[in-house]
Amino acid sequence: MRLSSDIAAVVTGGASGLGRATVEKLRADGVKVAIFDRDSVNAGFEAARAANGQERILVCCAGIGSAMKTASRSKDTGEIKHFPLNIFELTIQINLIGTFRCVAKSAAGMLTLDPVEGDGRGALVMTASVAAEDGQIGQAAYSASKGGVVGMTLPIARDLSSEGIRINTILPGIFETPLMMGAPEKVKEALAASVPFPKRLGNPQEYASLALEMIRNPYFNGEDVRLDGAIRMGLR
Ligand SMILES: NC(=O)c1ccc[n+]([C@@H]2O[C@H](COP(=O)([O-])OP(=O)(O)OC[C@H]3O[C@@H](n4cnc5c(N)ncnc54)[C@H](O)[C@@H]3O)[C@@H](O)[C@H]2O)c1
Repeated sequence: MRLSSDIAAVVTGGASGLGRATVEKLRADGVKVAIFDRDSVNAGFEAARAANGQERILVCCAGIGSAMKTASRSKDTGEIKHFPLNIFELTIQINLIGTFRCVAKSAAGMLTLDPVEGDGRGALVMTASVAAEDGQIGQAAYSASKGGVVGMTLPIARDLSSEGIRINTILPGIFETPLMMGAPEKVKEALAASVPFPKRLGNPQEYASLALEMIRNPYFNGEDVRLDGAIRMGLR
């Protein structure tokens, strides 16, 4: 897809981190970008389309983390706990169902557009995580939510193929976003050292660069791509 001021886009989670970097890169190419960063999907699409026209691009970055063992025993008191189901459900609700909700709504809107020669009707990018493949201790809910995103990439690509709409997913490794920047310097240094090459955390611009390539390149479809400096996450 050729990016220009004729194109509208929606980026969820676009106020921070990976989403924000993607918004900046799309805007640098003239694209009219609407940002969703809260729970009002229908009203958000209505307002974005009223302001910019029907989007041909959707990038889903909204997401939350959760970390707790499936079942555990307190070292101090011996108390036994299990992962609270409401936190598991919330993680799936936002990361997986929220992503699908935006994808389905956006793709339905794209069906009303005329296809552009060689480009089709639109392109979508979802955000999973390397935790979809190598989830660590405490990541059962997060990994399940991101594994769901990976799992639905190909069937959605197939569902939308006859309408000329493409979809791909990025699995980020460890990126330097506001979330990570709050971590102690020592923790960040240890994480950076665990990346084979380059030995540092990912830059959100590098995520945005891959998202834009997935949008621009007409042969990029149905793929789940790790962007992680070759890291494979360990037990914890
Ligand atoms: N930063 C990393 O290292 C990393 C690694 C792997 C995957 N990811 C994934 O990348 C995506 C972006 O992460 P980030 O690091 O930029 O995080 P971030 O916290 O900086 O940004 C996430 C944004 O999503 C928004 N959001 C949260 N819940 C929402 C909801 N229900 N509706 C709309 N918006 C909502 C937040 O307000 C925030 O602005 C997430 O899906 C995350 O799971 C990040």
